[in-house]
This record gives sequence, C-alpha cells and structure tokens, in this order.
Amino acid sequence: MHLHLAIIFCLLCGSSQAATYVGGVLLTNTVWSSAGSANPYYLTQDVQVPRNVTLTIQAGVVIDFTQGDFEILVKGYLKVEGTSSQKVTFQGGSGSDLKYMLKFQSTRLPLTSIRYAQFKGPKSAVQITNAAPGLQQNTGKLVIESSIFSDGTTISANGIYPRANYSSVPSMEYLSCSFSQTTVSSINADSEPIRILNSKIFYGIFSPPANNEGIQIENSTLRNSTVSYDRESGGPSIFRLNTSDVTNLTISYSNAFSYLATFVVGQSVIRDLNIAAGTSFLSLMLAEIILEDSSIYNATTSYIKTNYWYSSPPSPKISIRNCKFTLGNLALTLTMRYYEHSVSIFNSVLTKVNITASSTNDLGPNYAIRFFDMRNVSFTDGVIYLPYHQAQIVYSTITLRSPLTINGASTILCSSIGRSGSIAQANSLGVDAAGLSLSRSTIKNFDIGLRVRPVSLYAVNISQTNFQSNTQYNIDNKGTYDVLATGNYWGTSNAATVTSKINDYWDNINYGEVFYNNFTASPLAAETGCAAFDENQYTTTTRSPYYWKK
Ligand SMILES: *[C@@H]1O[C@H](CO)[C@@H](O)[C@H](O)[C@H]1NC(C)=O
Ligand SMILES: *[C@@H]1O[C@H](CO)[C@@H](O)[C@H](O)[C@H]1NC(C)=O
Ligand SMILES: *[C@@H]1O[C@H](CO)[C@@H](O)[C@H](O)[C@H]1NC(C)=O
Ligand SMILES: *[C@@H]1O[C@H](CO)[C@@H](O)[C@H](O)[C@H]1NC(C)=O
Ligand SMILES: *[C@@H]1O[C@H](CO)[C@@H](O)[C@H](O)[C@H]1NC(C)=O
Ligand SMILES: *[C@@H]1O[C@H](CO)[C@@H](O)[C@H](O)[C@H]1NC(C)=O
Ligand SMILES: *[C@@H]1O[C@H](CO)[C@@H](O)[C@H](O)[C@H]1NC(C)=O
Ligand SMILES: *[C@@H]1O[C@H](CO)[C@@H](O)[C@H](O)[C@H]1NC(C)=O
Ligand SMILES: *[C@@H]1O[C@H](CO)[C@@H](O)[C@H](O)[C@H]1NC(C)=O
Ligand SMILES: *[C@@H]1O[C@H](CO)[C@@H](O)[C@H](O)[C@H]1NC(C)=O
Ligand SMILES: *[C@@H]1O[C@H](CO)[C@@H](O)[C@H](O)[C@H]1NC(C)=O
Repeated sequence: MHLHLAIIFCLLCGSSQAATYVGGVLLTNTVWSSAGSANPYYLTQDVQVPRNVTLTIQAGVVIDFTQGDFEILVKGYLKVEGTSSQKVTFQGGSGSDLKYMLKFQSTRLPLTSIRYAQFKGPKSAVQITNAAPGLQQNTGKLVIESSIFSDGTTISANGIYPRANYSSVPSMEYLSCSFSQTTVSSINADSEPIRILNSKIFYGIFSPPANNEGIQIENSTLRNSTVSYDRESGGPSIFRLNTSDVTNLTISYSNAFSYLATFVVGQSVIRDLNIAAGTSFLSLMLAEIILEDSSIYNATTSYIKTNYWYSSPPSPKISIRNCKFTLGNLALTLTMRYYEHSVSIFNSVLTKVNITASSTNDLGPNYAIRFFDMRNVSFTDGVIYLPYHQAQIVYSTITLRSPLTINGASTILCSSIGRSGSIAQANSLGVDAAGLSLSRSTIKNFDIGLRVRPVSLYAVNISQTNFQSNTQYNIDNKGTYDVLATGNYWGTSNAATVTSKINDYWDNINYGEVFYNNFTASPLAAETGCAAFDENQYTTTTRSPYYWKK
C-alpha cells in the first residue's frame, strides 16, 4: 500500500506563520528548500524515501517533529546540505517518542551525505538499523559532518548483524561534530561500529554494549561525560578513546549483569576519571581497563571486580602501559580463581597512586594467585596494599607511604624500595610479605625494612640486596620458618650491628632464624648492576584482544 504524498502549503497563514506539511512516500527525487515561506517543514506522518529516490534538504531548512511521533525513513538517499552559516535544523518532538528523526535501513550509506545539520532533542536524532534476514541490508559507512547534536538527543547503531552471517557490517562516522547532552549508543551486542572523530563532546552519555568495534572516539575533546555499561551483554562491550583530551569522565556500571565491560584508552590525556562500579556481587563481573601511551591525572576506582569467566589464555584485566599517571586511588575487588596477571603496569611513571585490594580471592586468604605485575615502573609516593595477592615487581623504583603488602610467592627483582619523603621514618615499615624472593634490590630509609611471615622453609629467600639506613631492623622475621639471606649488604661493615638489625629466632624463639651468610662490608651494585630491562625476559602477559580496531 502506498501512503500518499502530502505537501500542503499554508497559503492562508500570515507569512510569519508560513509552513510546509510533509509526510508519506516520496515517489520522485525531492528537494526541500527554505525559499519563500517554506519553513518550517512539519511532519504530519512519516516521510519515506524509497530505494533510488533522493531527498535533498537545502541549507536553512527547519524540519519540525512536533506533530506526532514521526520519522524520516531512508531506504534511498538523503542529502542534507547545510552550510556553516545556514544549518539544516531537525527539531521538536518528545523524549518519549519511539521514532528517531532519521532512520537508515536497506540503503547504501555512502550515497547519503549530511553536512552542517543541527539536531535538537530530546527526540532521538539518527539511527542505522538492519532489515529482516534475507533483505537488502545497509552497506558502507554513513558519514555525518560538521553537525550539532544537543538537548538530550540520541544517536544509535541499532542493527543486529551476527558476525557469523556478515563478515563486514555498515558503520556510522561523525566528523567534526559537536555533541552536547547527547546519548551515543550501540544498542545491541552485534551492533554497527560508531566512530566519532575530530569532535567536541560535552555532557555526553555513552552506552556501549556492542562487542566488536564498539564506540570509538578519536582526536576529540570530551568534557563532563559518562560511559554507562548499563546493559546485559554477553560480550566485551567496547568503548575506546584514542588521541583525545578528556576532563571529568565517569565510568559507571549500573546493571547487575554488566559483565565484560571494556574501556580502552590510547594516546590520550584524561583528567578526573572516576570508575564507579555497583556494589552488588554480580555487578561488573569482569572489567577490562586498558590505559596505554596516555597521561592520566586524578583517577579513582571503587569496587572494580575482575572475575573468573574469561578467555583462555588470560589477558590482563587492568593494564597500564607507557603511561604517566598522577594522583590515583585504584580500589580493587578481585576474586579471580583462574586468571593470572590481573593488574599489569609496565614502563610507566606513577606518582601519588594508591593500589589496594583488601578482599581475599575466592580460594581464601592463603591462596595468593599471581595478580600484580609491575615492570620498569617509577612509583613515587604511593601505596601498594595487596594482603591476599601475589606480586612480581621487577626493574622498578618505588617510594612508599605505607608498607608494600604482598602475599603468596612474590618476587622483587632489580628494584629499589624506599620511604616517601611525605611520611616519617619512625615506625615506618617497608615491605610486608609472606613468601618472597628478593634479589638484586635495595630496601632503604624505613624504621623496619622488611617484615616477613614465611609459611614454609625458605619461602623467603634474599640475595644480593642492599639494606640501607633502616633504623630499627633490616629484617623482622615474624614467621615460624627460617629465612635464607645470602650475599647481602646490611648497611654496615660491623658484624655486631648486622646481627642486631635482624630480628629472628635469637630474639624470640617462637620465630624462625635468618641465615645471613656471606654478607658484604660495602654496598652492592644490586639493582644498578642488573642488565638492562628486557620485557621479554619475564613471563609474557597476553595482550588484550581489545586494542584499537578500525
Ligand atoms: C535504481 O536505478 C538504477 C538506474 O539509475 C536502476 O538500474 C536500478 O534498477 C534501480 N533500482 C531499483 C531497485 O529500482
Ligand atoms: C544468520 O544465518 C543463519 C544460518 O546461516 C540464519 O538461520 C539466520 O536467520 C541468519 N540471521 C540473520 C540475522 O541474518
Ligand atoms: C584533530 O581534530 C582537529 C579539530 O578538532 C583537526 O583540526 C585536526 O586536523 C585533527 N587531527 C587529525 C590528525 O585528524
Ligand atoms: C562532571 O560531570 C558530571 C556530568 O557527567 C557533572 O554532573 C559534574 O558536575 C561534573 N563535575 C565537575 C567537577 O566538573
Ligand atoms: C563541567 O561541569 C562543571 C560543573 O557542573 C561546569 O562548571 C563546567 O563548566 C562543565 N564543563 C564544560 C566544558 O561544560
Ligand atoms: C579528582 O576527581 C574527582 C572527580 O572524579 C573530583 O571530585 C576531585 O575534586 C578531583 N581532585 C583533584 C585534586 O583534582
Ligand atoms: C593514598 O593513601 C595515602 C595514605 O593512606 C593517603 O594519604 C592519600 O590521600 C591517598 N591518595 C589518594 C589519591 O587517595
Ligand atoms: C622503561 O620505562 C620508561 C618510562 O618510564 C621508558 O621510557 C623506557 O623505554 C622503558 N624501558 C624499556 C626497556 O622498555
Ligand atoms: C634463593 O635465591 C637465589 C637467587 O635467586 C637462588 O639462586 C637460590 O636457589 C634460592 N634458594 C632457595 C632455597 O630457594
Ligand atoms: C657472596 O655474596 C656476593 C655478593 O652478593 C656474591 O657475589 C657471591 O657470589 C656470594 N658467594 C657465595 C659463595 O654465595
Ligand atoms: C591508539 O591508536 C593508535 C593508532 O591507530 C594505535 O596504534 C594504538 O594501538 C591505539 N591504542 C590503543 C590502546 O588501542
């Protein structure tokens, strides 16, 4: 059935109230212009642009959706030809409307062009969507340039393209646009990619349940925006930022089942990042947070939980590489039974950052899985508190505001661990560990350098390490087992002082002994004598599959 084409000029109105009423199927190529008293164009029903028909909307045209919940449905082609001084305006309608102003379906998207348009919400602005299986689907990329989205409007990728059926799916790209109070949403797990480039986003809301390319923002400015992992999704829900400048970004996980939430940042600057998960057991079953080649200032997380349903081999759940990260409080809840390398920090400079995971993993307090992997990091004036987790710290320089607390069979190699100048030496403790292999490192400037609680014979083994300027003890053995400490420098050439700064069996026979044979009379090269750092020397961490894709 054909809807009839209705274009009625309001001839009886005064010129200031002139208007055009539009609706129905456009059977031939049609041009809407702002000439004379044509504006505004009121939709009195859906406007439908069938295949092979082009609707051209010229500069200055105002299209109004106040008459009802109507849409412009494009299966043919749309040319929106605004100019910087004379935009094409889409306005009116209500936030409760179900239809979007523009909907693209079964069309060759590259033959549509939209330039200098202005979409005023709260009615939703633009969506692309699939057609029923077997019908012509959208193909190619819809490009929207130099346009403005505002007042609570929405843009969406709404298609369902099972990747098994479609090797490539269409996409939407926004170039040099400005978004204010706009929701950007990939509605379904298999929805089309949305890319935003060279744009400005204020008070944006991103809803990224799509699993493949996701929502990608590049070379853009974001202010006061939120990424809301708010839908149940069986896949990774990808949001990516690259080469962008961000201030005040909140990541929230509102749905109890928003597991697999992937947040990837590359080559960007972020200030005031707040990752605020829900607090229910089920919320955020698995977050993957990747920060790379970026500068981060002031990041807070609460209740980040990484859990055990995941790919094999495991990839890091929180990965910070080549970043400069200043001022942060990463509070983690980690209940990982099977996955190693859950937090990895490589080749980065962290200043005033606190990393804490106060809860046990789900195998209990005495089962510490490999969790924290720090390599070639300068970590200044911060906190590392992981009382139930195992750490590997290599080639790093650390100054601490509170004891570096680790469990399991942890490793510290070729590193320097000292006290932050911001805390007093009196009553300070450097490292608090259960099992520890400590080698070619320096522990300095604490009241007690190292407190250990070995859970088996030689679970603590210390070699080629300097203990320097620790006032009370270099090592305090609070476990029942003996500690092996071979070939270390104890901060003095005086044998009696070496002994007096070791607190062990010979001070209280409830505790194990510290065997400190072959000690040296002068400082060792320790970490400064280590061969140059070579990342490949250590157990490799599988890289996340969710890096930037184009
Ligand atoms: C569209 O128009 C082209 C020629 O311009 C024609 O070859 C084609 O059959 C038309 N397609 C449809 C679906 O009408
Ligand atoms: C995908 O392909 C399968 C079988 O090949 C078919 O049953 C299903 O309907 C297709 N789905 C879509 C959305 O095209
Ligand atoms: C980044 O965006 C700005 C506009 O905000 C533009 O002038 C510049 O050319 C873009 N850079 C690249 C590499 O695309
Ligand atoms: C951060 O952005 C949110 C909106 O996402 C806004 O409500 C809040 O006031 C902003 N905070 C600051 C400090 O700018
Ligand atoms: C961000 O929000 C704060 C607080 O509401 C406001 O003062 C500031 O102007 C906003 N920034 C932008 C760029 O909109
Ligand atoms: C850090 O960011 C939070 C919002 O996440 C803000 O409330 C706080 O004022 C910021 N602190 C500094 C020192 O910038
Ligand atoms: C880090 O922890 C220290 C010591 O507990 C505290 O003084 C500081 O405020 C914390 N920093 C942040 C950014 O939360
Ligand atoms: C170690 O990290 C620094 C950044 O702090 C980086 O410049 C350097 O290249 C890294 N070294 C290696 C061998 O990767
Ligand atoms: C202690 O550590 C050194 C150096 O890493 C190693 O050669 C030695 O085998 C270890 N001893 C024990 C008992 O683990
Ligand atoms: C004694 O300690 C020094 C310095 O750590 C080391 O180079 C040497 O191999 C050690 N000798 C023995 C026999 O352990
Ligand atoms: C950011 O983009 C660059 C260039 O496309 C790419 O090489 C890099 O891997 C991206 N970063 C992330 C974290 O995806």
